[in-house]
Amino acid sequence: MLVLGVESSCDETAVSLLEETPQGVQLLSSVISTQIPLHRMYGGVIPELASRNHSANIPAVLAEALQKAGRDIAEVDVFASTAGPGLVAALLVGNTAAKALALAAGKPFIAVNHLEGHMLSPFVLRPGGLVPHLALVVSGGHSLVVDVQGAGRYTLLGRSRDDAAGEAFDKVAKMLDLPYPGGPEIDKLAEQGDPERFDFPRPMMHEPHLDFSFSGLKTAVLYALPKLVASGNPHDLDHQTLCDLCAGVRAAIVEVLVQKAMRGLRKTGHRVLAVSGGVSCNGELRRRMQEACDRRRIELVLPPNSLTTDNAAMIAYAGLLRARARDFSPLDTPVDPNLKLAGAATRA
Ligand code: KG4
Ligand code: ZN
Repeated sequence: MLVLGVESSCDETAVSLLEETPQGVQLLSSVISTQIPLHRMYGGVIPELASRNHSANIPAVLAEALQKAGRDIAEVDVFASTAGPGLVAALLVGNTAAKALALAAGKPFIAVNHLEGHMLSPFVLRPGGLVPHLALVVSGGHSLVVDVQGAGRYTLLGRSRDDAAGEAFDKVAKMLDLPYPGGPEIDKLAEQGDPERFDFPRPMMHEPHLDFSFSGLKTAVLYALPKLVASGNPHDLDHQTLCDLCAGVRAAIVEVLVQKAMRGLRKTGHRVLAVSGGVSCNGELRRRMQEACDRRRIELVLPPNSLTTDNAAMIAYAGLLRARARDFSPLDTPVDPNLKLAGAATRA
């Protein structure tokens, strides 16, 4: 079965081809055209610009994905596309393209939840594919802890009550006047910093539930700034202090994520942990999570860096799992900017 996935929920236009053979799942191509340099000029994503650029980019991205896979559009068996959550005008571009291709080819269409795509992304290249596990999804818009019993069988165990982990990185970076997106910038500077110089709060870390709260971090940085430089202007910070601030923020976010993931493993009894979403390419998060899992003999499954931020391989993979169950979507399935994780019951 040959699946073509399309992703356009935010500022990446992406198309991927994935094939299921008797030997397993093979990623044939994953093409991502990022608009980050464009949105960086505005300090964040401008929805109208994103949607216009998706429209302009999608034909070339599609052609490149087919060419890299060495396949013709007529060979595709299933078309999958992100239906939400995301920016509505951005979602519409990729979604409409995938529906039009499915209609023209007379092949089925599958509307995929972007968060389900992230959540399953660690399994795209895992030999043996998806297994029951605890999922930690840490993206720019969401932080979720999910008990994954199998494809489409999800129980939401925890989520951020305010800012998502990626959002916390981005907002702190904005206060420090670092370029968008802030997560990778903080990660880079933190490598040269001392994580112990600033003791930033770790809210809810010791509470028994699996929810997060990250909004206090930006307040803590806001209060720290004028104590470090009278002007309160981040450009007046010396380089080492800037790096120490970044290291402190990164350490606080990472420690909370690691503690909550370990708590989730204890609660569910899962022996496999999968971490996904843009924040999962954070160097410190990968190191700390690996150490914590090694100590407990837990298998940690991480997507390769190329599949951590938005991509279409994860959408094609989620589509493939649905296609196995012949769980196709009608062509009039709408996009939904607030789409909830399907099959996710909330456990009290
Ligand atoms: O999953 P993603 O590409 O988009 C959403 O679905 O939201 O995640 C983007 C987020 C941004 O907040 C970005 O700052 C963060 O992932 N991010 C990182 C790193 N790389 C990307 N955060 C921390 N460290 C990184 N290395
Ligand atoms: Zn995403």
